[in-house]
Amino acid sequence: MTPLMSARGLIKTYGATVALDSVDLDIQAGEILAVMGPSGSGKSTLMHCLAGVVRADSGQVRYGETELTTASDARLSALRRREFGFVFQFGRLVPELLCLENVALPLRMEGVRRREAERRAAGWLERLDVADCAGKRPGQISGGQGQRVAIARALVTEPRIVFADEPTGALDSLNGELVMRLLTRCAAEAGMAVVLVTHEPAVAAYSHREVVVRDGRIRTGTGVSR
Ligand SMILES: Nc1ncnc2c1ncn2[C@@H]1O[C@H](COP(=O)(O)OP(=O)(O)O)[C@@H](O)[C@H]1O
Ligand SMILES: [Mg+2]
Repeated sequence: MTPLMSARGLIKTYGATVALDSVDLDIQAGEILAVMGPSGSGKSTLMHCLAGVVRADSGQVRYGETELTTASDARLSALRRREFGFVFQFGRLVPELLCLENVALPLRMEGVRRREAERRAAGWLERLDVADCAGKRPGQISGGQGQRVAIARALVTEPRIVFADEPTGALDSLNGELVMRLLTRCAAEAGMAVVLVTHEPAVAAYSHREVVVRDGRIRTGTGVSR
């Protein structure tokens, strides 16, 4: 099966720091891939290179017909808006907007009319079990609710790949489990792949496959947490 995304020989340095040291990685359509490893090992850098947020110094990232390492900025931002979704450790919701407006925002940026965008946003809030947050601002809801709203925002454009960088890192284990259950269920129902960066084995347990990054290099795991 042709992978959805394929990275080969990725190298990224920051001054004397080698953040990625020749990484090869394939992402299959619809899979949930956990990227594990200690702090500073290169997990976020890898995710940013895969998502076209950061350009690698050398190597390739192929996504369909597009080679991300040489694609134009316009092509990369179109991919980030339409094909990729992002979830961060802290929701990064826009504090001035209602949660419904936050989730509708990626659609509005694509030119979807307000009524239609908010209708679809409301559907995703419902699926993530935070429909009651729709009319509140991010400052008025809990961290776990905020993270579910952030996931709704990442999924609302129905991306092919969701990049989630320690999405439960700021949550207690109960909320973390809930977020992971909803994220993986929604992604599976919609056929989205998820690249899940985490250093928590309990979170990686929601993945189909696991790779471990250490000193900017990848060691392919078996799917069993160590
Ligand atoms: N923007 C940056 N500028 C300088 N050094 C960076 C930058 N981003 C990451 N690094 C360095 O690259 C290495 C890998 O970082 P990172 O990918 O954030 O690791 P992880 O996500 O696994 O904690 C670290 O040594 C980090 O300090
Ligand atoms: Mg990181």
